[in-house]
Order: sequence, then C-alpha cells, then structure tokens
Amino acid sequence: MHEKITTSKQIENAAEEFIRNFFSYYRKLPNDKIINEIDNDKIENLRKIGIPIQGRAIDTVVNEMVEDIYQYGNNVNHPRYLGFIPGPASMLSWLGDVMTSAFNRHAGSWVSCPAASCIEQELIGWLCDQAGFTEKSGGLFVSGGSMANLTAMTVARDKILSEETQHLGVAYVSEQTHSSVAKGLRIIGIPDSRIRRIPVDSYFKMDTDHLTCSIQKDIDEGLAPFIVIASAGTTNTGSIDPFEKISSICQRYGMWMHVDGAFGASVLLTKTHKNLLKGIELSDSISWDAHKWLFQTYACGMILVKNRENLMNSFHVQPEYLKDLGAVQDSFNPWEMGIELTRPARGLKLWFTLQVMGSDAIGAAIEHGFQLAEWAEDELKKNKEIEIVSPAQMAIVNFRYSPRNMTEHQKDELNQQISKKMLDSGYAGIFTTEINGKKVLRICAIHPDTTEVDIRNTVRLLNRYFEELVSFQRTE
Ligand SMILES: Cc1ncc(COP(=O)(O)O)c(C=O)c1O
Repeated sequence: MHEKITTSKQIENAAEEFIRNFFSYYRKLPNDKIINEIDNDKIENLRKIGIPIQGRAIDTVVNEMVEDIYQYGNNVNHPRYLGFIPGPASMLSWLGDVMTSAFNRHAGSWVSCPAASCIEQELIGWLCDQAGFTEKSGGLFVSGGSMANLTAMTVARDKILSEETQHLGVAYVSEQTHSSVAKGLRIIGIPDSRIRRIPVDSYFKMDTDHLTCSIQKDIDEGLAPFIVIASAGTTNTGSIDPFEKISSICQRYGMWMHVDGAFGASVLLTKTHKNLLKGIELSDSISWDAHKWLFQTYACGMILVKNRENLMNSFHVQPEYLKDLGAVQDSFNPWEMGIELTRPARGLKLWFTLQVMGSDAIGAAIEHGFQLAEWAEDELKKNKEIEIVSPAQMAIVNFRYSPRNMTEHQKDELNQQISKKMLDSGYAGIFTTEINGKKVLRICAIHPDTTEVDIRNTVRLLNRYFEELVSFQRTE
C-alpha cells in the first residue's frame, strides 16, 4: 500500500544510499568507540516521534534510523570488543542476510521453498558430519543457542520420560552451564528444584564423580533423571566438559546427553583444535551458534540431533490448513522439526559465507581466536599484580588485578573500576564476570581482524588504568 505514497524507485534510491552509508560506517568501525552511549534527551526525542497519521519522506526516516537509532549501543562487531561472546559478523553473512530478507521466502515447509530447504538440509548434514554424527542425524536452523537448547531439551524429555514420569524428571548441569539451559528447563516443566548444579573441578569442567552420585541419589529417591547438559566451551572460561565420561554415565542410566556448543562447537571446523571436542559425537544432540564463532549476523543457530526421528516425534503436526504444503518424499518440513512454523531460511547466509570463503578459511579464522587469547595471557603474565584466574582456552582468558595489600572486596571494586575506565576510554570492550565468588576481568577474543597489537595494547592500557587507580587511592 505504501507504494502509492513512496514509489519503488524512491525505495531503490534510499536502499542504494543506505548501502553506501553503511559501508562507510563499516570501514570506519575499527576507529570508532566500543560503545556509543546515548543520553536521556536523545531517548526522549525518540519517544516523541510517535506514529504519524500521514507518512513521512523516506529519506528523512532512513536518515533518522541510521543517525539516531543504529548509531548507538555496543559495537559488538568491533575488533576490540572483547566482552561477553562478541558478534564479529562477516560482511558476507550480512550480504547473505540481506538477500534472504529481500526474497522473504517462507522456509517453514519444503514445498514453499524447496531449493532453500534443500540447501539448509545439506548444510545441516555437513555440520552433523563435522560433529561425527551418522546418516540418521538431522537438525534445524533456529534463532540461537537458547532456542537450540530449548529444542534439544524438549526432545530429550519426550524421548526419555513418559507422561507418567514427567513430573519426576531431573536434569543435570554444571555450575558453569549457561543460564539459557535452566530457562529452557523451566519452560519444558522442570523447575529449579529438579535441576542439579554439579560442581566443577579446578579446570571448570563438570565433576563426573559428583554427577554419578547425584544421579544415583535421585534414583534412590524415586525421581527420574533424564538429561545431562554438557558444555563445549562454557561462557565464563571456555571450559569443555569430559564428554566421554558423561556419555558413559548417560548410557549406564538411560539418559539423554546434550552438548551446549553454542559458543565452542565451531572449533569442529578447525584443523588444530578439533581434537579438544573429542567425544562430542557420543552425545544425542548439540547446540551450535553460527552468530558467535562462525561470524554470522544475528539470529543464526543450529540444533543437531543424532537421530532426526526424535525431532519429528516431538514437533510433528499436520493440520488441515497445511496439507497443501505436506511432506515431499525424502524431504523434511522444518516446521515438523522445531518450534517455529513461519521462519526465514536462516541457514542460507552461513551457506553463502562458506561458499565464498571455503571451510579452510573459516577454520583458520576460528583458530585465530586461540592465538589472540594466548597473546593476551602472555602480556598479562608480565604484570606480577595480575592473577590469571583461568588460562587462555577457547579464545577466553580471565584475570584479576590482585595487589597484596587489598582485601578481596577492594579487589572486586578495583577490577570493576578498571573495566569502567576502559569502556569510558572507548578503546576496548573489557567487561567483568564472577568466578569462584570473585570479580574478574575477562577477554573473549574471536574477531578475525583483531591483531596482536590490539591485544597487547589493550592489556597495557588496563595496566595503566590499574596504576592510576591504585596511586589515586594511595594519595587519598
Ligand atoms: C554456552 C552458551 N550457551 C547458550 C547461549 C545462548 O545463546 P543465544 O544468546 O544465541 O540464545 C550462550 C550465549 O552466549 C552461550 O555462551
């Protein structure tokens, strides 16, 4: 309808102008601040825009969106954004995303989008191969790790528990498991009182002796243990749980083994570090985010399941109004394998990226993250006031400025302030987390364009802020 007011030529011109502006922004990004703060007045002005009764000129609105909306926030794509799990999306993924949005195919069913469905299925098959899953396996592109975990846990519940035992189901995670898992468990009817948080060892890996004891105790009490969620790269430290031991425990007790590889499963595409995930092929399902370490724009995650029949058992529906879109032989409707009906072909941008880069180049880009964290650790170790809390693993290193004359509480404050100073400087995104009850600084470095100089300068700048804060406190 808006075509009557705004012609398609005007939209085309606005799109061209937008793309020129966007590339200019993207080229300048490495010199931009890590976070572009927005003040309250600007927020107030946005609130006041309201919804007009008469439409406004397209150029004005595009300009407002670029200048007043997208401009602000965390530049998660910046090479020195080293917080949380960064989102270093490749421009190839961006283009793949734009193409997918432009054609706006309904990729919920094979019939409505056969070529894209075929590509998504082939890509899922290739990813299953990388994980060591066999030909019975399958999966789906979903919006991210939280949805992948939720999908897997739903399948596990339906496979292992019966209607009679669902209210007794118990799930096992480690103290370091991502919070989306407990959220997903709540959604599928497993309350906090039936989630066991198994302690971790000094390497932040799930302690399997504790796991066995906990499962046995629950069985003795008449409960129904049904799933263990292991991690391939925990969010805090990048630790990898002992898959082989967890798998044999799951087999002994007839339980489902899920691996949350939202962050770390991408390591399967490397030549040098793939062996870290040995045993992942023993799991029943794997979550894997492409919008993390596979350099895709949001929202692109995968759920892989060893036996795709299990996905169908949980999600298959065939209402009368979808019969015209029914299954074609030897193909699968994505809507019958997951939660969503209407969905974009999320996998196409990853396929496009892989086609243009090739899997070797993606693997090498992932390996770069390991090197970045090692450079960081090397530079950190030069300062004797720094305690390495978890050494470089899976592109993550945790550390804490820990001067001897300070209490633990003062050190917590100090490290928080160092992070704040760095964020205020705009140079690098260094945030905090808590490990063993202590506030620590954390580097997660997965951007392919981050350099050794970026990393070493970031640590040197942190050292400078530390010195400034400590000498300020001394003179107070
Ligand atoms: C290990 C792990 N699992 C799950 C998630 C949730 O993924 P998403 O944010 O894509 O929903 C994250 C996010 O950082 C994560 O690190």
